[in-house]
Amino acid sequence: MTISASAPAKIILFGEHAVVYGEPAIAVPVTALQATADISPSDDGFKIIAYDLDDAIIRYNTYAEDQPLQRVLTLLQDVHHCDLPSVSIGVRSHIPMASGLGSGAAVTTAIARAVTQAMGKTLSLDALNRIVYEVETIHHGTPSGIDNTVIVYEQPIYFVREQPIEHLMIGQPFTLIVADTGETALTHIAVGDVRKLVTSEPEQYRPMIREIGKLTKLARQHLEAGEIKALGPLMDTNHAWLQQLTVSSPKLDQLVTAARAAGALGAKLSGGGRGGNMIALVQPEAAGDVMAALTSNGAVSVLQTMVN
Ligand code: MEV
Repeated sequence: MTISASAPAKIILFGEHAVVYGEPAIAVPVTALQATADISPSDDGFKIIAYDLDDAIIRYNTYAEDQPLQRVLTLLQDVHHCDLPSVSIGVRSHIPMASGLGSGAAVTTAIARAVTQAMGKTLSLDALNRIVYEVETIHHGTPSGIDNTVIVYEQPIYFVREQPIEHLMIGQPFTLIVADTGETALTHIAVGDVRKLVTSEPEQYRPMIREIGKLTKLARQHLEAGEIKALGPLMDTNHAWLQQLTVSSPKLDQLVTAARAAGALGAKLSGGGRGGNMIALVQPEAAGDVMAALTSNGAVSVLQTMVN
């Protein structure tokens, strides 16, 4: 019998990078993009196999011998007080790697869920979240914890580092376009570079971090009140602060500009930046034009998703 477990991708709507410094951020799951772990019985002990060889899988498997996978398996054995079952796992993921959509946290979550089931155990969301965070520290150094939290809980969240999780009630569903620059970028490099700026020139960069926090608080009010149009200018301003923090890229800026020109209410990079994905807020009738503009400006993939 095969056991399957999945986890979604994530999008940060507001507050990335500032969240590392204790400011709030808002993130939502993207259920259209999933990482899945499939487990089948094996006669020769525990092993990882890949049978759906899309890009993400090949790259994930290149560090199958590396620490993140070892760490999640060790943590699961510790928490469940049992050995790894004799199973083989195939990992499938359609979430592009290193592109701001939380692929690492989603793959870890899917594996932890599947292995837990194969052990005949259960894991609370809190316990799973702690495990995925622990593994994230290998990928990202000192992550804020927003990626693992939104992916594990699979709900929109208003996140403040080391504070209890707040689930966000979205007052009115809205449409986002997510476009991939095709440029990969490692989050911990961007986070480290921002840290250098904030540490070396606090008078210049601390206020920017605080401004991002302020606009995120305002965005929360608009999201809860269903005032969707008001979010557009806040996304634009958030993108401008992220440019100042040096985490945008020429391609991200090109896509953001193209989306606005094609009728988006607002647009910004999402996640660690320096590449990866951007998001555009659109009214449903403008979605086609914005998607076409992003494609003609070189986006390698363009996805429409509803946030509710
Ligand atoms: C990455 O998805 C979000 C960042 O704010 C880093 C973090 O919160 O750990 C850039």
